Amino acid sequence: MKLHANSLTRAYGTLQALDGLTLEVDAGVLVLIGPSGGGKSTFLRLCGGLDQATSGSLQINGTWLGEDPASLLAWRRRNGFLFQQFNLFPHLTALRNITLPLEKVHGKSPAAAEDMARRCLERFGLQAHADKLPAQLSGGQQQRAGLARAIAPGPEILLLDEPTSALDPEMTAEVLELIQELAAAGQHIILSTHEMGFARAVADRVALIAGGKILESGVPGEVFGRPQAAFTQRFLAKVMRFA
Ligand SMILES: Nc1ncnc2c1ncn2[C@@H]1O[C@H](COP(=O)(O)OP(=O)(O)OP(=O)(O)O)[C@@H](O)[C@H]1O
Ligand SMILES: [Mg+2]
Repeated sequence: MKLHANSLTRAYGTLQALDGLTLEVDAGVLVLIGPSGGGKSTFLRLCGGLDQATSGSLQINGTWLGEDPASLLAWRRRNGFLFQQFNLFPHLTALRNITLPLEKVHGKSPAAAEDMARRCLERFGLQAHADKLPAQLSGGQQQRAGLARAIAPGPEILLLDEPTSALDPEMTAEVLELIQELAAAGQHIILSTHEMGFARAVADRVALIAGGKILESGVPGEVFGRPQAAFTQRFLAKVMRFA
């Protein structure tokens, strides 16, 4: 996955959520870290084509993510998303949560969609839960079903925004393990996380976003082992203290 972000800004009124973000990355798994409010979710939404920059340019795998609604829609359909929580439709079973977008967004026949969905549920150890509603699943199972739904159409890039932050430690571990398996199988991923150990283990490239800018980026060994920016040193010293 090749990503070029050049002087990206995203303003909300007078607030610059992104404030001249520039990043050049060629990596399978890009992990975004940084303080709350720094701009990780805003940047992920731009990368997924869910939102548009106020100024600057963003190109991923040769596609310019500009203002054209049709090309943004096409880009969204090529990728998969999972957010912190509320990923599943609450009134649909786990199986139907996966088959519905396959049919309505990706044009699969009901039989093909069910076949793909059942294979994904099985891959993620959820075959026994296919007919349950989200409320009948644990938080970890819900996130795994959300991942199954995101993966089912074969996304070019999987965008994950703090996928484990609403989970307890045991469920966090099971979801992180699954993400690591997907990464090991070659799935391209951009994810934001506050789990520093996981970031270090799964990332090909780590970028620290604060104040709407990239303050540091590199391979995990460099960013975590020899952080250059004073801000990164302070941030890591704080968040790694109890890790
Ligand atoms: N829809 C919005 N309207 C107004 N301000 C917003 C909106 N979305 C984000 N912001 C602001 O933009 C800034 C960046 O927010 P963002 O959600 O990208 O941070 P983050 O790094 O994802 O934080 P966290 O780690 O807490 O998820 C914050 O100051 C936030 O309050
Ligand atoms: Mg966020």
